[in-house]
Amino acid sequence: MSSIPSHYDPCLEPAAASDDSIQRVHGRLLSDKPQPEPGGFAYGPLMLLGFMSGLILFCCIYLVHNRGGFDPLVYNGHIDPKAASGLPVELTVPEMIAKGQSLYSVTCIQCHGAAGLGQPGAFPPLAGSDWVNGSEERVVRVVLHGLKDPITVKGEQFTSSNKMPALANPPYTYKDTQISYVLTYVRQAFGNTSGPIMPAKVTEIRAASADRKSEWTQAELPAN
Ligand code: HEC
Repeated sequence: MSSIPSHYDPCLEPAAASDDSIQRVHGRLLSDKPQPEPGGFAYGPLMLLGFMSGLILFCCIYLVHNRGGFDPLVYNGHIDPKAASGLPVELTVPEMIAKGQSLYSVTCIQCHGAAGLGQPGAFPPLAGSDWVNGSEERVVRVVLHGLKDPITVKGEQFTSSNKMPALANPPYTYKDTQISYVLTYVRQAFGNTSGPIMPAKVTEIRAASADRKSEWTQAELPAN
């Protein structure tokens, strides 16, 4: 009986395996797997490859049709698409009135007062005013470019050296939307019951009177 050397380690002894035994072990491993016919294909992996390629193709076509320009806002439910579009946001009339009220309390209130009654001899009233409740064109022109010299309000002569400032010009530079909102507010506040004035109407009138440099006078603004 040969004695095993003290440094023997079976893992480090490849020479111990004969060629025969290596072939036997490998042969057994190989014969466990189905072998393709000589010169043939393994259909399993080929079908899988075909299926995956088809799936990728389908996904690409689907993306092309449904990608929404890869715009991150397209599927973002937390962002108002109207606001994100950069187009003017159309408000409902109650929203216009709410915005108009806050504009009024910043600008117009100083002269026309919290109740729209003005101040006798200094500032004319907006409550029940035929200017406010009359033609949209006329009242928009007054707010865009101002008003001066004596006027008739509610059938009474109003005379003052004060002028109604042009809100289209500095320091006010009111936008069309702001003029629309403040007039929509004024036309239904203080007991007035006239309809809203839309931003598009203000845009139209601003364009038509773009060359106006000084305040209007009553004679230049017929009531209708
Ligand atoms: C600095 C003071 C002042 C401010 C601010 C002012 N107004 Fe006037 N407003 C006047 C004066 C003064 C007149 C009268 C001008 C005249 O006698 O020709 C007038 C006239 C008017 C008239 C026509 C007359 C009438 O009584 O209906 C309207 C409408 C009007 N203003 C609306 C507004 C609105 C809306 C605002 C705010 C967006 C505003 N005003 C801000 C001073 C002001």
